[in-house]
Amino acid sequence: MIFVTGGAGFIGSNFVLNWLAQHQEPVLNYDKLTYAGNLGNLVSLQDDARHLFVQGDICDQTQVLALLQTHRPRAIVHFAAESHVDRSIHGPEAFIQTNIQGTFSLLQAARQFLAQQDAEFQQAFRFLHVSTDEVYGTLGPDDAPFSETTAYAPNSPYSASKAASDHLVRSYHHTFGLPTLTTNCSNNYGPYHFPEKLIPLMIANALAGKALPIYGDGQQIRDWLYVTDHCRAIERVLQAGRPGETYNVGGWNEMTNLQVVHTLCDLLDRLQPRADGASYRQQITRVADRPGHDRRYAIDARKIERELGWKPQETFASGIEKTVQWYLQNQAWVRDVQSGDYMKWIDRNYKGREA
Ligand code: NAD
Ligand code: DAU
Repeated sequence: MIFVTGGAGFIGSNFVLNWLAQHQEPVLNYDKLTYAGNLGNLVSLQDDARHLFVQGDICDQTQVLALLQTHRPRAIVHFAAESHVDRSIHGPEAFIQTNIQGTFSLLQAARQFLAQQDAEFQQAFRFLHVSTDEVYGTLGPDDAPFSETTAYAPNSPYSASKAASDHLVRSYHHTFGLPTLTTNCSNNYGPYHFPEKLIPLMIANALAGKALPIYGDGQQIRDWLYVTDHCRAIERVLQAGRPGETYNVGGWNEMTNLQVVHTLCDLLDRLQPRADGASYRQQITRVADRPGHDRRYAIDARKIERELGWKPQETFASGIEKTVQWYLQNQAWVRDVQSGDYMKWIDRNYKGREA
């Protein structure tokens, strides 16, 4: 089996669903179920014996080690993290705890577990760490995209905590010979994306008749990748990546935030027109910028393309239409994740921010 951390979150649940749609190999899904974790994403697996869910914290080394010893997975695929930049500005502590301390704990457990296995098992084992392009910092308009050799320059508590975790993973390969793999991916979008992030927030707010809050001038650039393409890249790296290596994953799809939001409004105008016939673009509002906001991210994905033959299958046009359709068809999922503490977060991040 494979041991997945954070498999009830956005990318993790897409990964688990895709994995079990294609493989018989079981998944042990280990997730703390923070505000971002949702077993509702995995409801289609509730009677599937290949999916074993355990609620727990990656900082709990004793529990993780016991699970590794009981189930003897051939790989760990590590998604679990605090993942939202804005939350890392309002409350960085959880990011240090989960992203740094938690990854350290997981590495320690993996190392202890592996030391008890025979050479053949040790050689085949993989620890795949899912990371982000944000560790590289920000690009100017004419800079070359981030490659695997770009210097780390994280700018937010979130990206700094992910950078620290990447360094720990690297050191466990070099010092202890742990067979690690790291992927640094650009912005994902698709089903089950929590509506605190740009794309699902804009869809949810548009449909609710609320403002569409653009930070600053909206000219910041992100390189968007459909989540299933990211999941396929992770599978490919797990299958054929070279231990100790890092692989950048991206969609060759740079867009400004305003372009993304205009695209969403135009799609919604076509698929679910407003009752008054006006465009959703009318709901766009400028709000105060994110402190330390990175201006541009872009990924040079040539290494994974050349060495592992991976390429994205979705274009932005095809992926974003699927995404909008999914949100239109899954309004109950959106309502469900918007209950609980969601509105408190929205208040905390957006109140008093209007320009
Ligand atoms: P997410 O916030 O949607 O999900 C995170 C999951 O981790 C949740 O299910 C949560 O319950 C779980 N979790 C949090 N703390 C935990 C802990 N201490 N122990 C166990 N589980 C815990 O995040 P996501 O967007 O799916 O991102 C997954 C990974 O991919 C993260 O490591 C993130 O840095 C990375 N990443 C995300 C993107 C993106 O665009 N979303 C892009 C590149 C890389
Ligand atoms: O690049 C990969 C990263 O992408 C991941 O590592 C992170 O986990 C993921 O959250 C994402 O980070 P971003 O900060 O780029 O994503 P977010 O959706 O929060 O914001 C995308 C852009 O949209 C960013 O420039 C900020 C802007 N934005 C965001 C929100 C929530 C707005 O203008 N208004 C908003 O309300």
